[in-house]
Amino acid sequence: MLRTLQDHALSCIERISGAAVAAAVRVEGLRYLHRHVPLDDIARITEAFYTSRPCESDMWRMMATVAKDEMGMDGGFYLLREVFLRIVPPFSTYRDRPGYHVRRRDVDALKYKFGSHAPHRDSWAGDSVNLLNVWMAIDEVPAAAGITVFPGFEDIELPHLSTTPFYATHEANLPVVPQTFDMRPGDCVLFGADELHGTRLNTTDVTRVAVSGRIALDTPRYWPQFASTNRDQWLRASELDRPEPDFIESHETVAAPPTDSEGSHHTRLPRPVRAASYHDWTDACAQSEIAGGQGFSIRIGEKEIALFRRGSDIIALDNVCPHLYYRLANGPQRDGRVTCPGHCLSFDLETGACTDDPSFAVRRHQTRVEGDRVFVKLA
Ligand code: FES
Ligand SMILES: [Fe+2]
Repeated sequence: MLRTLQDHALSCIERISGAAVAAAVRVEGLRYLHRHVPLDDIARITEAFYTSRPCESDMWRMMATVAKDEMGMDGGFYLLREVFLRIVPPFSTYRDRPGYHVRRRDVDALKYKFGSHAPHRDSWAGDSVNLLNVWMAIDEVPAAAGITVFPGFEDIELPHLSTTPFYATHEANLPVVPQTFDMRPGDCVLFGADELHGTRLNTTDVTRVAVSGRIALDTPRYWPQFASTNRDQWLRASELDRPEPDFIESHETVAAPPTDSEGSHHTRLPRPVRAASYHDWTDACAQSEIAGGQGFSIRIGEKEIALFRRGSDIIALDNVCPHLYYRLANGPQRDGRVTCPGHCLSFDLETGACTDDPSFAVRRHQTRVEGDRVFVKLA
């Protein structure tokens, strides 16, 4: 099965980039495809995979096997017709290419090519709420390049973007350390539609190559307000062996819509504080407001600062992640680092340097403690 999926991926590379490129990738491994495949071909390769029927049926079979053997399900589940090849080259290969990395503080920023996906739930995206995602590595995927899941966030309401309700906003507070996995070829991660998940910015030197598909555990169910493109794209697993299986058009809707979560306890905005003058010491907060494990954020004029406790020290860094502007104070702090809740870049608290990619850094600012008060001076 793994071999079949790898061969399908290679045949799509051959179709789009040519036989010589495909031969080189076959020798070196899919994870090194960025050495041979032009960046501009990647979207077309994933599309070729998506529209190729043999891939579909092999993926369906793989998912049905996972559901039956790993989860003990009988045939009463459904498979989504669409299967995806997910190719994400190392960030270093497109960091400086115009058009490949949009640095804009708006929703469009999330649409840059080869996206590392910020935390989201698939039910937000109009997918069946009883969906199970099957994400399978078809070459080695190091943890630092792969899928991330945020355990314990299944039932917690998060603020999400109102116009494109796919992703947690920059305000989302995600104190848990995201779980990542080193995956060998053929390893799968399964997660539900309502589990918060995303993918890391790929700061490794290998391309992330995975396939993903979707299982509905029983009749597909949708939030009524989302016009879904795939409601009629479900195949009953018990019909998998029929030569021309029917795709169901019926589905159920579930009543519980997502509410506007403005003001949710998981929205943590910086507290505005008044500066005597921009470059002077500013009375920022009480020491007791800065817990260990996560930052506390303030705003001085337009400038956002994240304050962290490390032993007896208070450390002040820029709050806004230079990648796509999520707030560092809302990410988990561990081992002298803070991890961005956006796409999991980590920053050293002492230096502000990004420990995953040297092209990113945040500024450190001066702090001073007087009694219970913490003062900050901007660098
Ligand atoms: S916003 Fe992407 S890693 Fe911080
Ligand atoms: Fe997803």
